[in-house]
Amino acid sequence: MLQTLNDNPDYTPAIAARTAPVYERVKSVISEAAWPYFAPDVDEVLRLKRERNAVILAHNYMTPDIYHCVSDIGGDSLALAQRAMDVEADVIVLCGVHFMAETAKLLNPEKTVIIPDPAAGCSLAESISGADIRKMRRLYPGVPVVTYVNTSAEVKAESDVCCTSANAKLVVESLGVDRVMLLPDEYLARNVAAVTDVEIITFPGRCEVHETFTADQVVALRRAHPDVTVLAHPECAPEVLQEVDYAGSTSGMADYVRDHQPPEVALITECSMSDNLISTNPRTRFIRSCSLCPHMQRITMENIAEALREMKFEVTINASIASKARRAVENMLKVGRG
Ligand code: 13P
Ligand code: SF4
Repeated sequence: MLQTLNDNPDYTPAIAARTAPVYERVKSVISEAAWPYFAPDVDEVLRLKRERNAVILAHNYMTPDIYHCVSDIGGDSLALAQRAMDVEADVIVLCGVHFMAETAKLLNPEKTVIIPDPAAGCSLAESISGADIRKMRRLYPGVPVVTYVNTSAEVKAESDVCCTSANAKLVVESLGVDRVMLLPDEYLARNVAAVTDVEIITFPGRCEVHETFTADQVVALRRAHPDVTVLAHPECAPEVLQEVDYAGSTSGMADYVRDHQPPEVALITECSMSDNLISTNPRTRFIRSCSLCPHMQRITMENIAEALREMKFEVTINASIASKARRAVENMLKVGRG
């Protein structure tokens, strides 16, 4: 049993014994002194999950207690969509933001999908509506619409196909046309335009986390840490991506660290990613950025427990929107990750 200085009365010897194996997965990021404050909620979530026949899908930006201690499936938004289809449990708890929970529901219409905090939004999803897509179609008649999966079901329903940062170039090129609209993330669209011959029409949507990073920050980082390997998410500005060693989805960055084991790495993205990778890559030193996504951070162990206890907040999608939105997501899944 884990011996700690414990002044949390909820951390009983039985909970300490039951949670000791999961503590092993996070001991590099959660101190022994802090674990008694995490363990009772972890223990409760694990129990509720069994009782409800639920699985927890966790995005790479979840905090390590969620990502490593209670989730069944972790990954980037493409992996979560792909794996959501294999779930056999009755209930899916989506630990991520609302569009991810909607995608899981689109792909599992007969299952109960819950999100621990329905206010967990996304600045990209907020940036565009179904009416905007219809307007863009009027401006560019006949040009196919590829929408980033970081959008509402209403927007997906107006689209030909979705994409994620992991497969955007592949999806764009799969259409076999000279010109596509790639909406709404302007930076992702410009980053794809830089590596394809397909002409890309953009929209002024931005990720409020990734738009804050600058090329000068990367240059300063390299000056301070000459041996650092810098990885970035394609929601960053093209000028930032020009300064980095690799750009890819959250899982793309995780795979890069696993496969290359750089001695020192900086991830230009949401900073929970580094926390999650520390425990699985002990030989790599992570230089952490401190950019948290306020929407992702709404998901906590406490509200996961509450959601499972009270079976709230269930994701529902209007049937006529759902069938069209599902088609756009399924069109993306046919293309895959490449
Ligand atoms: P990924 O698809 O790379 O996980 O990105 C999702 C996201 O919201 C990044 O900000
Ligand atoms: Fe949306 Fe940006 Fe948060 Fe990802 S990090 S969920 S794109 S606001």
